[in-house]
Amino acid sequence: MSRARQIIPYKAKVVEPIALLPYEERVRRIEACGNNLFRLASHDVYIDLVTDSGTGALSAAQLGRMMIGDEAYAGSRSFFEMERQIRETMGYRYTIPVHQGRAAERVLDFVLIKKHMIVPGNSHFDTTKAHIEFAGGRAIDCTIDAGRSSTGYHPFKGDVDLAKLESVIREYGPRHVAYILMTVTCNSGGGQPVSMENIREVRRIADQYGLLVILDAARFAENAWFIKHREPGYATKTIQEIVAEMCSYTDAAIMSAKKDALVPMGGFIAVRDDLLYERLKAPTILFEGFYTYGGMSGADMEALAQGLREVTEEPYLTYRIGQVKRFGELLSAAGVPLVEPLGGHAVFIDARRFFAHVPEDEFPAQLLCVELYKEGGVRAVEVGSVLIGRDPDTGENIRPNLDLCRITIPRRVYTMEHLEYVADVVRTVFEEKGQRMRHGLRFEVEAPGIRHFASTFRYVRGSDGGTGDLP
Ligand code: F0G
Repeated sequence: MSRARQIIPYKAKVVEPIALLPYEERVRRIEACGNNLFRLASHDVYIDLVTDSGTGALSAAQLGRMMIGDEAYAGSRSFFEMERQIRETMGYRYTIPVHQGRAAERVLDFVLIKKHMIVPGNSHFDTTKAHIEFAGGRAIDCTIDAGRSSTGYHPFKGDVDLAKLESVIREYGPRHVAYILMTVTCNSGGGQPVSMENIREVRRIADQYGLLVILDAARFAENAWFIKHREPGYATKTIQEIVAEMCSYTDAAIMSAKKDALVPMGGFIAVRDDLLYERLKAPTILFEGFYTYGGMSGADMEALAQGLREVTEEPYLTYRIGQVKRFGELLSAAGVPLVEPLGGHAVFIDARRFFAHVPEDEFPAQLLCVELYKEGGVRAVEVGSVLIGRDPDTGENIRPNLDLCRITIPRRVYTMEHLEYVADVVRTVFEEKGQRMRHGLRFEVEAPGIRHFASTFRYVRGSDGGTGDLP
């Protein structure tokens, strides 16, 4: 019998050159960007792990379909193909295309949220929460307690705490609940999945109170893979069957197609109900475009339809989630402190433990991102104090539970050799600086509003990333 081996279900047909700048040049460029990696040009970066959003590789079949994209303003054939595929994969009757996930949030919330309404759910993504607030509502996070901790194993850290959900609905009254949001997988913990049982129970509670359940489906296929491999009763089901069941418990989905539809740009709202579909049309026309293209080209919609077929293939998902896991294990083996268990699309480093002696208010996770770039031209992203910002009432810096550096893996782009290189870069910074650095960064210019994109930073001691006040 042959041994089980790692199977990579694709090979490269087209490649894109990348290059590593010399060390001195990297130091010069990151300093010139005020130690903010969002300000770097992508050609300054060797391996770009800022996000898995829109950064995946297209397949030959997707490129082929793009050639036959129908660019008609109204009723494009490519729109009907995309709608047909969403119905086949997810079961929703109607689709409204939008240009990306947050546009779906904006259109949906415009219709469903009235002032002072609440949206209970699990780990609302930043833009999702912001759009709920922008529409006058409030997001209430009901994720289980285990999901808030970076350590300890739980197979479905994205699950909703059902008791908390019910008590929130009772406290505010069902009339004040705009909808219940189910995020699969939860981005904030690196892609922690939600169990089928939990989605089913949320549906039951929603029915009891006459509420809508909306799926944030950005990483729906990765979630289905975790259900198959972790939840009793699902091992012999296909990914397609699991996806269909997950969606069957929800009334509609909002989707950033830049993740699990394998396209550089696009998104949609998919719904069952005729009336809700009709209500979504007008704001779509205002904010996005006519409701059969909503910000997407015909070529984009063809690629999206094909992407949905490819993302639900099990060999693809097994390799994808396995690659993230093997990368995380390389870091764990070197003692690098990670959020556990590993999720589907990213590995999160706990920067407060990584830099044990850097004060919490000197942005250890931002420091780690800068150090990884200098050491190896790798771009990761801070998900911590810089991102979370200040309390709007007190003006004080909010101190988040965790200060994390997210290393996000684009789909079908990097090989394990690329990721071995990244693991080596992380290990080197950990061994050479993890225990030695005494100081981190402070703001040079703190940009107002969403500050992590535009602010600039200085090293607290020395501009060379020196080890502070150590001998
Ligand atoms: N929902 C989830 C769970 C997300 O992770 C994102 C985006 C969105 C909604 C918004 O979608 O970007 O297409 O407008 N996450 C990206 C990330 C930005 O890097 O994690 P979008």
